[in-house]
Amino acid sequence: MLISKDHDKVFANVVDRLSETARECFPLPDDAEVADNLVSMANFLPLIGELIEVMAPEIVAEIGAYRGITTRALLNIANEVGFDVHVVDPALPEESDDARLTRFKQLSIDYLGVDHGASVFFIDGDHNYFTVERELSLIHQQRAGRPVLTLLHDVSWPCARRDMYYLPDTIPKSARKPTVDYSVLSVASSTLLEGDAGVPMTIPVAIEEAGDANGVLTAVEGFLSTHDGYEYIQLPAIFGLGVLWSTADLSDSQRKAFAKIKERIQWVSPFAATMELNRLILLARVNEAGAEWHKCQRAIAELTANVDRLSSELKAKEIELARLAEQENPAKQESQGEQENQAENMAHRSALDTTRKQ
Ligand SMILES: C[S@@+](CC[C@H](N)C(=O)[O-])C[C@H]1O[C@@H](n2cnc3c(N)ncnc32)[C@H](O)[C@@H]1O
Repeated sequence: MLISKDHDKVFANVVDRLSETARECFPLPDDAEVADNLVSMANFLPLIGELIEVMAPEIVAEIGAYRGITTRALLNIANEVGFDVHVVDPALPEESDDARLTRFKQLSIDYLGVDHGASVFFIDGDHNYFTVERELSLIHQQRAGRPVLTLLHDVSWPCARRDMYYLPDTIPKSARKPTVDYSVLSVASSTLLEGDAGVPMTIPVAIEEAGDANGVLTAVEGFLSTHDGYEYIQLPAIFGLGVLWSTADLSDSQRKAFAKIKERIQWVSPFAATMELNRLILLARVNEAGAEWHKCQRAIAELTANVDRLSSELKAKEIELARLAEQENPAKQESQGEQENQAENMAHRSALDTTRKQ
């Protein structure tokens, strides 16, 4: 999921930036995304890379590319294992000259309406019930009875039970929930927050959480309830990874690989949930602290401007006062001046005497 369209803190060459000790402590995968917030499906590849290999796909299709982090990671695997990558996004990132990559600057439902020969799909486009339900149905239609692996992002909080709309105009009005353009979401509340103590969303989300036909997980469940021959499991980390596969026509090695991943995901899920909740609470705290910092900066700027204004007013008043005093009593001013001169002379003389005595 992409929380903010301004998200720009993805580190390149992560490993090069770590100290010797840290490098030893964090055995990161090659395509690790290290950022204040994690948004890419590339982060799941160390877990699911094996499944892609065992599916032996001719084509892997990625729906929703954003900056192409997952696309690049997939191309690394593609060049080793030998498959092509199709990337589908109406707002595709910069051109790539990788021979294994084909770019489709279009909506997922237009791409998936045609059988391009993909058997592995990454679904990370528009995170709402209508889109995801259609995407899964179209994949089902083209793969009917043949093995297919679909990896979905954002099946956990906050999009599990709340629609998000990147491209609201591409979704029929009747299928869209009432939305807000900017919101702050909290794991502690189903309603939108007034303050900043949550995760900020700069992409429109449904005002109401849960209920009928709302959210990505609801779409997966809807699909599963109407289609036989699928297994599904999800990992509650980095906004949630869903692994959906058809059980039809699997080879022994594929069956074993799926059973192994299922067991691993079940095993690691409680731990992943703890880490994810902690990450979301910290994201909320960072947002709140950032908002507080901006508030303080605005208050400081306002106070500084006030102090500057008051200082110049004071200076002007002092000048005016001095001028008035001079006008009112020039004689007193003169005698005061003489007294000051006499005092200065006496001090001078006494200093001279002291010097002579020495
Ligand atoms: C969360 S980002 C994808 C991140 C990427 N998959 C990754 O792992 O690094 C979502 C992307 O989906 C695209 N998108 C939104 N609606 C779409 C749709 N209906 N079909 C295809 N792409 C869509 C957006 O333009 C955006 O670039």
